[in-house]
Amino acid sequence: MDKITVIGAGNVGATVANVLAHKDLAKEIVLVDIKQGIAEGKALDIWQSASIDDFSTKVIGVTDDYSKTAGSGIVVITSGLPRKPGMSRDDLIKTNAIIVKEVAEKAVKYSPDAIFIIVSNPLDVMTYAALKATKLPANKVIGMAGILDTARFSMFVAEALNVSARTVNALLLGGHGDTMVPLPNHTSVGGVPLHELLPKEKIDAIVDRAKKGGGELVALMGTSAWYAPGAATALMVESIVRDQNRVFPCCVLLNGEYGLHDVYLGVPVVLGKKGVDRIIDIKLSDEETKNLQISCGAVKDVMKVLDDMKLF
Ligand code: LAC
Repeated sequence: MDKITVIGAGNVGATVANVLAHKDLAKEIVLVDIKQGIAEGKALDIWQSASIDDFSTKVIGVTDDYSKTAGSGIVVITSGLPRKPGMSRDDLIKTNAIIVKEVAEKAVKYSPDAIFIIVSNPLDVMTYAALKATKLPANKVIGMAGILDTARFSMFVAEALNVSARTVNALLLGGHGDTMVPLPNHTSVGGVPLHELLPKEKIDAIVDRAKKGGGELVALMGTSAWYAPGAATALMVESIVRDQNRVFPCCVLLNGEYGLHDVYLGVPVVLGKKGVDRIIDIKLSDEETKNLQISCGAVKDVMKVLDDMKLF
């Protein structure tokens, strides 16, 4: 791919740019921020690792100059405030909706054919805001969260079993919030179902920790995480750029899948060069369905706050 734009040069945006450069997925990565010098500095720092780590991608940074992003194949939006201790992701809606709307509108003007990946919180509703702002088809506006939340769940399973997290294959549905729905019944370790390896109480404790995984990090660091969120975002970009058709849980617009309508929510999708190639609608147990509906309700409540802001 010729160009990938990453908007927001905070911890998450810079990490996305760094991982993407190391994966050598594009000729050029453009990092954008509104704070003078930050994107330029971080881009230069990343590019200076090229001869050490052996990559060819050029990384440039700009202060609010979207003309430099023109012709991007993928635009990643990480802009917005991160959480502080005691805040939920939903508390960020008022500030971040205005920011995401503005940057999405500017970016799509210069890259009308791009696929947009949204990372800003509250994730599900910010992805919906980006859909409205860009007016792109929904297969090209996708939220990152499921890979991150699943990766956290997988790490906790790996820790409990003293195995490599690479051998854990997990799935998680729902919004990127405390109502997310890890699916231990769809989790296996080297092909062995999780419930054959761990007692129910331990699995329940892992499910609970995964749901609050982002908050655990906010409490420790005073701000939200960036290494795993950045890596998760870069994995989505890779599947699209290389047209790999890998299956990941991503935040996408549902139109009848899982019995849900007009809501952005995390479900398994096939990610390839078109963005979302298709949504995989799996059969859930009654309890899983109930939990997904609760998660959907929580996202819809925040969508209502966005609608009431009358930005669109
Ligand atoms: C987290 C933030 C990125 O879950 O939402 O760490």
